[in-house]
Amino acid sequence: MSRPRSVIDILDLSTDELDALMRVAEDIIAYPDKYAEVCHGKKLATLFFEPSTRTRMSFEAAMYELGGHVISMTDGASSSASKGESVSDTAKIVSCYADIIAMRHPKEGAALVAAQSATVPVVNAGDGGHCHPTQTLADLLTIYREKGGFSNLTVGLCGDLKFGRTVHSLVGALSRYEGIKFILISPEELRLPDYVKNDVLDRGGIQYAETSSLDDAIGSLDVLYMTRVQRERFFNEEDYLRLKDSYILTPDKLRGAKSDMAILHPLPRVNEISVAVDDDPRACYFRQAANGKYMRMALIMMLLGLGA
Ligand code: CP
Repeated sequence: MSRPRSVIDILDLSTDELDALMRVAEDIIAYPDKYAEVCHGKKLATLFFEPSTRTRMSFEAAMYELGGHVISMTDGASSSASKGESVSDTAKIVSCYADIIAMRHPKEGAALVAAQSATVPVVNAGDGGHCHPTQTLADLLTIYREKGGFSNLTVGLCGDLKFGRTVHSLVGALSRYEGIKFILISPEELRLPDYVKNDVLDRGGIQYAETSSLDDAIGSLDVLYMTRVQRERFFNEEDYLRLKDSYILTPDKLRGAKSDMAILHPLPRVNEISVAVDDDPRACYFRQAANGKYMRMALIMMLLGLGA
């Protein structure tokens, strides 16, 4: 049986499609009224088996702003998953009630399993430490709007690059653009996984360097992508406590940065960016969260065949 198109990995979208989604998102920002009824009569199901603020709420806001409806599961414990229902069966059932599903799950690969059973499109809203493609859509639109494009940028990725699913997806997407360079800034224990380095960076001939020093790297960066050290991904508390404050971006640290460096963070943040940085014009992370809603609007439209 043929299945509808789903987005599990950012690489499921071509570069042309990413560019088209950004163009639609820009048009939505400029002319929101044009899109207010595009999803009239359609329903989005948000299935979140892991906590979320931005991703779930921006998906839901996106569908409402397109004139559609939302049905929501905000906690696996309140669903029949708690009685042992499989992801596969859940996806089949929810396909009877909704036209599109956005799903977050703590297990890597869960969104793919859902997509293989669902009869409506499934969007991966984060699967464990693996991928988070719609965060990458938000990141791309933010970089595009802040820097005017992607070519020849030097992008610093800082913090938990091992479990950071947003980093894995962003590396995949940016690697398609000409002249991109990455500086991978992390403690030894939280380095980018070999499968990302080998399959994406080495195979694509992308330039990158690894360092544990944010101070050494910061002056060369056009974009600094900070990430949280994620307590929920660690197997023991001791390692988390040792590594959690490895990097804290402060106004003092920014003295060595370019005057137009864009600071991104998928959020939530804990300690890794001081609130004193928030008023710096280079701090883009709240604009980045807003951009996520517009890119999710464009993606919903595309997957429902409604004009994006
Ligand atoms: N960036 C992100 O995925 O945030 P939430 O966990 O709040 O959805």
